[in-house]
Amino acid sequence: MGDDREAGVKVAVRCRPFNQREKDRGAKLIIDMNGAMTTIQNPETPNEEPKKFTFDFSYWSHDGYNEKDDGYLEAQPGSKYSSQRRVFEDLGQGVLDNAFKGFNCSLFAYGQTGSGKSYSMVGYGNNKGIVPITCDELFKAIEAGDKATKYEVTFSMLEIYNEQVRDLLSKDNPKGGLQVRQNPKLGLFYVVGLKKVAVGSYAEIDKRTQEGTANRTVASTNMNATSSRAHTVVTITFDQISKNEAGEETKKSSVINLVDLAGSERADSTGATGDRLKEGANINKSLSALGNVISALADLSGGKKKVMVPYRDSVLTKLLQNALGGNSKTVMIAALSPADINYDETLSTLRYADRAKKIKNKAVVNENPLDKLIRELREENEKLKKQMGGAMPVAGGAGMDPADGTYSKEEIERMRKEMEEEIRAQLLANQEQMKDMDESFEEKLKRNREEQEAMGAAQANTQDRKNKDPHLVNLNEDPMLSGVIFHFIEPGEMTIGRKDASPPPMIPLTGLSISKQHAVITFENNEATVKPGEQGAKTKINGVPLTGPTTLQHLDRVLFGSNHMYVFHNPLNPKAPENTPSKIDWDFAQKEIAKHKGFDTASAGMTKEQIIAQEQILELLPMVSEVNAISEELNKHRTFEVILISGAAMEGYGSKKGAKVVVKMKNLLNGNTWLWERGKFMNRRYMIQELYQRHLDGDEDVMKIPKEEDPFWEPPEDVLIGTANVFLQSLSYALDFDDKLAVTDYKGVEEGNLYVNITPCSDKGKPLDEDFFVEDPQELLGKPFHYKVTIKSAEVNKAKYSKGLHIKYKVYQDEDVTSTPVIKDTLSPEFKHHRIITYPAVNEDQLGYFEHGCITFQLYGVQEDSVNDNRLMKMTTKELRQMEQLQNPGMQRRQTISGEASEESKLRNELEVLKKKFERLEKKEKRIQDLCSEWKGKPAEEQQFEPFWRHVSAVANSSGNKLKTRVEILNTMLKGQKMLRAKQSSDGSGANVIQSQKAMQGGGTAGAQNGSNGSINSGNGSKACVIQ
Ligand SMILES: Nc1ncnc2c1ncn2[C@@H]1O[C@H](COP(=O)(O)OP(=O)(O)O)[C@@H](O)[C@H]1O
Ligand SMILES: [Mg+2]
Repeated sequence: MGDDREAGVKVAVRCRPFNQREKDRGAKLIIDMNGAMTTIQNPETPNEEPKKFTFDFSYWSHDGYNEKDDGYLEAQPGSKYSSQRRVFEDLGQGVLDNAFKGFNCSLFAYGQTGSGKSYSMVGYGNNKGIVPITCDELFKAIEAGDKATKYEVTFSMLEIYNEQVRDLLSKDNPKGGLQVRQNPKLGLFYVVGLKKVAVGSYAEIDKRTQEGTANRTVASTNMNATSSRAHTVVTITFDQISKNEAGEETKKSSVINLVDLAGSERADSTGATGDRLKEGANINKSLSALGNVISALADLSGGKKKVMVPYRDSVLTKLLQNALGGNSKTVMIAALSPADINYDETLSTLRYADRAKKIKNKAVVNENPLDKLIRELREENEKLKKQMGGAMPVAGGAGMDPADGTYSKEEIERMRKEMEEEIRAQLLANQEQMKDMDESFEEKLKRNREEQEAMGAAQANTQDRKNKDPHLVNLNEDPMLSGVIFHFIEPGEMTIGRKDASPPPMIPLTGLSISKQHAVITFENNEATVKPGEQGAKTKINGVPLTGPTTLQHLDRVLFGSNHMYVFHNPLNPKAPENTPSKIDWDFAQKEIAKHKGFDTASAGMTKEQIIAQEQILELLPMVSEVNAISEELNKHRTFEVILISGAAMEGYGSKKGAKVVVKMKNLLNGNTWLWERGKFMNRRYMIQELYQRHLDGDEDVMKIPKEEDPFWEPPEDVLIGTANVFLQSLSYALDFDDKLAVTDYKGVEEGNLYVNITPCSDKGKPLDEDFFVEDPQELLGKPFHYKVTIKSAEVNKAKYSKGLHIKYKVYQDEDVTSTPVIKDTLSPEFKHHRIITYPAVNEDQLGYFEHGCITFQLYGVQEDSVNDNRLMKMTTKELRQMEQLQNPGMQRRQTISGEASEESKLRNELEVLKKKFERLEKKEKRIQDLCSEWKGKPAEEQQFEPFWRHVSAVANSSGNKLKTRVEILNTMLKGQKMLRAKQSSDGSGANVIQSQKAMQGGGTAGAQNGSNGSINSGNGSKACVIQ
């Protein structure tokens, strides 16, 4: 970085290696870097030119590295790999140099969650990031610096989550967070009461960072906040006090802001758009405001006039005003995922970075005589004091006469109050600052070191005990927050529970689903045993709910409540069960939980789509548990479950859409259900978390929230009861189809029957002549063809659907859905629906549709916000959920496959067609026989061969494929029979049907092989299952 005064924001991009999940699914690399150029390839259009970008720095950290023994990643000789050191040398060193010159500096990391922001900023293990190396180098430079200069360094660390500022160096933050105020003189915003600690060495900064990270981890675990939605800001102030030539003491100051931004993934990319409720009010406000500020600044720098830069729109942009648009040397590092699946997000990161590089800042050296600073502060103080005394707007003052009607008396009073408050706050801040200046840096250092000593002892102790004593160590979704919290297990009994329990537990935990006496761990003879502390306390060991005393083995996973996930370490008996991986991470622990909910988590042999669905399920499962726990605590009478629903179950057989992960919400009082797309659920979850947070903060309105604002509430919508498929093969032989069809839901459970009829007909809808004969479907080509769809009636099993029933379907390339009218107050509605479909000249596509396609009839039920059952109203959500689970014991026993049901009806249909064809052939055979015997019966003189031959061959030729057809018929009948037998004998158990069918089909991809595991692994993606 040069030291020219007006300089652009320097922008760097960095591409990380593939992670394990990406490797597992065979992700494609879509990023390339060449010199200053970065290219990105759209995986959908591999033949198109990749998009090109250029940046000040481009760091290829995707491959070409070796891992040293200590874990440090270094470049292989000759590779273009950029190590942590290299990144520091370009970016961190520049920051340092500028800080010494007295410029303010800022460093941002931008990118989606998991793209490597924290890796670059903070780093992992021995791969230290820019922040620690810069701090380390800062103190080295101070050591080597001018001895006549006094150096003063302070450190602070804060987090912005949901527009609230939390001091990460403080254990007790006020509810609602710290206030952000503007200094009227400088115009800059600052955080009121933020703890700033004086530091004298890198080790001290390191310890404070650990403290801040631990506080973040505790908060994120207790409040269910997602750390990826938080911005972390580390601020280092660096002052150099020396005498100038005139002998005056001057102070050169630099403020260094190091910002690890929240994940940039947009809510709309998860499909939240279209939700009745807007995205959780503040959840991404700071990040979108940052985007707007950057755009505005880029416009300004591009010469546009009259651009308002909206700094005031969010807490983050207020605090970073100087860093972005003013007096600062600013660097932005954009972290890029290399994987194809992240294309949209990565492209948007590159565009963001591209805009940022247009911003020009005017950094100035902050150097002032020390006396002047103190004098100014005093003067300011006096002025404020005077203002407190007078000069306030008073009713009757200039322009403030209530009589002139501009302002009412109340308004004037309110303005007066506001102003007074403002001045008082400024005065307070000012006095704080004066006090701060009165205390020498040495005194501050001493004070902070004392404080740290106590804390440091505990930290050192942790390091020491880690290798000696058994302990629980935390796991977090964010790798940066994993391995941060330690609970050591003392010999004897240790109690775990809520801190309001009496006697208080030895390990206090807060948060959802933590009981007062949650669990007890006993440690004896080098062995730990854990048992529930009270009935209903939710603990899971290696994914299995804890019901009685269980021995904990080395590296076992322990989940208390919904969020407190730990790994148990026992250095005294460090033998983990076989097949335990040496490094256990969050993903592993989540997979294990999913598996014990009856879900296959092996990814071998899965398609990419299935792996993505699996990832989404693993992501949603803990969120759904959490929302269920909040529903219980707030007594919302709702239960949620993750559902994998096949394209076929949603839009019909042969749907191109793969299986989709959705969340089902059910009203436990009236049985109404809703299906929420992943994005909508995530959005609601943030709102639900916010609501719960308000509840914890003692806000009583939470319990009386109007339904329009309630994230648990949704107006009733029609529910898809199930679908039934009619295959159209019969049409290709101009035969009609008339049958009772089973309506199955997405789990494959039969919900009722549907009576439909599909008949080839005249253009007026009259059935075709009995004699109309199609030998080969090809005969239909080019000719007009009409058929009639008749929906006669239905029968539905569940009484709750009597509020109204209707059917929707689409034929061939229909744009719009055809819908029957709603029939009310019956479970056996007569639809009497007809529709004639006409093809003026049948083409290949339409014929293909007859031969392989089907019509999917979707049966919908009307739901109403009915009067709730009084008996149920008396039960708690917790009791209702337990009851629900007893009635619907999850997927283990019920999981069936709707697509397979389609296979069955397809087969049945084929059988029907073949039977009819067979009948016809028999008729023909008979006809030939008749011709023969007729000929035989004729007198010899009339036995003319020529006409006889013509007759016979006409009939015979029309059945040229007779033999082949017969074989087909027999085979199909055989298959069909076998299958129906299997279905009958299995007594409705879905898993058995699958097995026998698989056996019949000679293998195929593995489905629910052992009949107990759910799986998303299916041949045509037409399977569905549920996980609670
Ligand atoms: N340049 C890199 N080299 C090696 N591993 C990386 C790199 N960048 C990120 N990772 C790994 O990817 C994962 C996610 O990175 P992280 O920095 O935590 O993402 P973010 O902070 O953007 O959410 C971590 O496990 C991290 O170790
Ligand atoms: Mg991070």
